[in-house]
Order: sequence, then structure tokens, then C-alpha cells
Amino acid sequence: MMLGKGVLIKNKHKENMQIEEYKMKLIGKDRLREVVELQHYVYENLPNKDVLYMDSYEDMLGDLENGAKIIGVLNSQDRLVAYRYISFPRKEKRNLGYDIKLPEKDLEKVVHLETTVVDPLYRGNGLQLVTLEKAKEIAKQEGYRHFMCTVSPYNFYSLYNVMRGGLKIKALKKKYGTKPDDSDGLWRFILHNDLDKKFYTPADLVLSKWANLEMQKSLIDQGYIGYEIIKDTKELSYVKVDEAYA
Ligand SMILES: CC(C)(COP(=O)(O)OP(=O)(O)OC[C@H]1O[C@@H](n2cnc3c(N)ncnc32)[C@H](O)[C@@H]1OP(=O)(O)O)[C@@H](O)C(=O)NCCC(=O)NCCS
Repeated sequence: MMLGKGVLIKNKHKENMQIEEYKMKLIGKDRLREVVELQHYVYENLPNKDVLYMDSYEDMLGDLENGAKIIGVLNSQDRLVAYRYISFPRKEKRNLGYDIKLPEKDLEKVVHLETTVVDPLYRGNGLQLVTLEKAKEIAKQEGYRHFMCTVSPYNFYSLYNVMRGGLKIKALKKKYGTKPDDSDGLWRFILHNDLDKKFYTPADLVLSKWANLEMQKSLIDQGYIGYEIIKDTKELSYVKVDEAYA
């Protein structure tokens, strides 16, 4: 199913830069192998492997059969160059709504923004944000309300894009461990955007350096939420807001 089209710059920062057309489509089970291959390729090229939690073919297949969606970006040769994977965890244990204590009735309305990867040749075209906006459009039409994801505190580009897409930091904790309390897991921000809530004027603004996790954890424990990321200074603004608007 066709979701959109446009133009990309390939090799944006190189001399052999090229303009290329792309198509955005929902990817079905028949092309899942390509998704997994792109994920592996991007993972192999990552300087810090902890930032990307790999999804297996089997997990994604099971998820697709349960309604998950993969928004794919295909280049002019119909090669998959980026994708965004979204899932609907409902009452499953992995629902991130539990981590931020969403009311039980809202768990059904949670959308997980799972992995997004962009082939290094096509980075710098804002595809992470473009596919996030598309995911919101699709999920909203289907009656979903809470957008949630985890982002590694060491993945600046991803954090920046996700926050530009309207998600706010609501928790900072270890995830994906083997122990029941995830204490052997990886540090992750948990971000959330309630599509039904209006924008608010932030109060009590505190700035934290992006890399200062202790300060951010302490602010979250005091009831602040991560509101915005300032690209140039690599600082995050934390604000206190009325629960009704968070
Ligand atoms: C995070 C990611 C999806 C962002 O890709 P993207 O949408 O193309 O990024 P943007 O278009 O917002 O890039 C903005 C700028 O940052 C640069 N940039 C993006 N990702 C970068 C990276 N991983 N390393 C270095 N620079 C990067 C771009 O070149 C661009 O620079 P410019 O403005 O000077 O042209 C991509 O870096 C990626 O696939 N990373 C590995 C997988 C991952 O971490 N996924 C997210 C967690 S699931």
C-alpha cells in the first residue's frame, strides 16, 4: 500500500551526491527478509551497538501477524533504504505504558515506535521524522492515542528526532535485561506523547547536559519531564507540568 512519495538526497555529504525519488509503502510479510537484512547492515556499521535493540525475523513476523506495521522507504530501484516498525502491545507485559503508570484502560491505545533504521547512504533526509509523522497519521486514524518508545541516552540523533516528533521523556531506566527487574539491561529513556492532550506552556524549566544521566534521573524522580532538546548545545530542557497536560 502506497503511503507517499518524494525526493531524497543520496550521499548527502559526499562529492557524488545524487537526487533520487522514493516511495513510502507498508511492507508486508513477503518483504520482511529485506527489513531484517537492512537492520543487520545498519547494526554492523554502528560505532556503539548498545543503541539499537535488534528485533529477530521471528519476533517481527509474529508481531506483523498481530497487526504491527512496517513503514518502508524504497529508493528508485525499489530497494528498501529505511523503515519504521510500529506495534500495538495491548495488555502484553512489554507495553511501555506500564513503565509510566498509564491507567489500565489506556494500555489498549498504546502504539510502540519500535526500531527505525536508515541506510547510511540516505541519512540526513529526515526519514526518521517523516516516517514518525506517517506512523502517527496511520495510528490516529485507527483510534490509537499514546505514542511511546525507548531511546538510548547515547543515541543523540534518534533522541533529537523523536523529541522533535512531539514525544517527551517520562522515565529513564534499564530495559531489555534478562532479570525480572531489568537491572542487567540497557539504559533507556522512555518517551511518550498523548495525542489527545493539548500543548502547554512549560514552567520551572531546568537545563541538563544531554550526557548527564544522573541529573536527568533525579529531575524525573522529582516529577519533571524532558520537554525539548537543543541541538547546538546538546542540552535537554526539563519542565514541571500539571499532570493533566503531561
Ligand atoms: C537515527 C537515524 C534513524 C536517523 O537518520 P535520519 O532520519 O536520516 O537522520 P536526520 O535526517 O535527522 O539527520 C540529521 C543530521 O544528522 C546526521 N546524522 C543522522 N544520523 C547520524 C548518525 N547515526 N551518525 C552521524 N550523523 C548522523 C545527518 O547526516 C544529518 O546531518 P546534516 O543535517 O548535516 O545533513 C539513523 O542515524 C540510524 O539509522 N541510526 C542507526 C539506527 C538507530 O539508532 N535507530 C534509532 C533507534 S531504533
